[in-house]
Amino acid sequence: MSSRCPYAHAAVVQPDPCTDYLALKEVAPVHRDEVLGVWFITGTEQVGELIRHPALSSAWPERGRTVLHDGADAANAGGRTADTVRRWFMFNDGTRHKTLRGLVAPLFSASRLARLRPFVEEQIDDMFTGRPGRIDVMADLAVPLSSRVICRVLGLPAEIAPRLEGWSQDIAALLVADYLPEVSRRGDLALSQIQHAVGAALGSPDLPPDSGLALLKKAQESGEADEADIEAIAGLIVYAGFETTSTFIGKALRSVLHAGAWRDLRSADPATAVEELLRFDTSVRQIARVATAPITLDGQRIEAGDLVLLMLGAANRDPGAFADPDALRLDRSIRKHLAFGQGQHYCLGAGLARMEVQIVIEKISRAWQDVRLVEPPTTRLHFGIPVLERLELEVS
Ligand code: HEM
Repeated sequence: MSSRCPYAHAAVVQPDPCTDYLALKEVAPVHRDEVLGVWFITGTEQVGELIRHPALSSAWPERGRTVLHDGADAANAGGRTADTVRRWFMFNDGTRHKTLRGLVAPLFSASRLARLRPFVEEQIDDMFTGRPGRIDVMADLAVPLSSRVICRVLGLPAEIAPRLEGWSQDIAALLVADYLPEVSRRGDLALSQIQHAVGAALGSPDLPPDSGLALLKKAQESGEADEADIEAIAGLIVYAGFETTSTFIGKALRSVLHAGAWRDLRSADPATAVEELLRFDTSVRQIARVATAPITLDGQRIEAGDLVLLMLGAANRDPGAFADPDALRLDRSIRKHLAFGQGQHYCLGAGLARMEVQIVIEKISRAWQDVRLVEPPTTRLHFGIPVLERLELEVS
């Protein structure tokens, strides 16, 4: 490998968040992995072109298969993954996507987010109160914060929050490895447990009137969506909103420590810093699409039916789009990065995620003068997906 991580000397903060990105710089921006039969797109320009391409569909959980699915004991003979997942508007195109997305879009309006802000602040204060000089960023801050916020947004009871982590991991595994019977079983179980929790909250007299589920209930009553759609949308918000944010909070702090930039963070504008941290190491490193017609790009021909992975994290390290892309500069002014995607499927919760992480940065940079890693962060593989499990810090 010719590229080097600019912070390679900081051995203590391994695993290195730059490694995977640097490895991807070694392949062409439009590259087909012949073993998996999947396309990897790593250039900013190429990802930008394909993410809006009319011949690339988001319905890959229904239509996209890798060679690993061939010969697998297909529990889902009619298509991949569970029916509920195939209903998620994230995995639909055109009018169906637009209509279902529109039902929950009001949940993320500026005025709703402003009303949610005191709740987020309260949660973080509560997590810090009485805490001695050590903190595991994942277990003590990122996971409880992100899960409580999702429960609050949807109107699920707060006692459900601790279950979101297990559910999200099992659904994430289902999306990438549904050819394994154990993954399929666990993913289906997680989805049915979410469905049960959603059903119970929808039928409860305590459902908060300004919650996401109350909004969805009204849509069901007015015939804008059926019961299965409502359950699917709620499940999507749980999945898309929880793990993405909790992992990003952990990764953001890991990146700051890896780059030795704690002092820079304390003096940075939190809004500017969050954009650079999203660019530097995001939690959604890749998104998938399936081609519905042949596409030619950079002299390569993508065939109808091919799976295409748009590598958002790698594209955010493209030197053609960002000067000195492997350096973390918390005052970098970024016009556009790809961490939240682009176009029709642009992250619906981007404003909420930004708000949560900005508040975390504001509060910790005020409260902590100095921060030291107690031991290298722990990352665990969950059916092939790296999960940032522990990030233990000594703070003063
Ligand atoms: C740092 C945190 C987050 C990151 C990095 C992130 C990233 C993304 C990305 C890249 C997409 C585009 C998917 C695609 O084009 O296929 C997306 C879509 C989505 N995100 Fe996020 N997300 C985050 C937080 C959230 C939160 C907090 C919520 C809600 C509570 C949320 C809800 C959604 C939904 C519903 C979609 C589907 C949008 C559509 O298909 O129209 N996300 N997110």
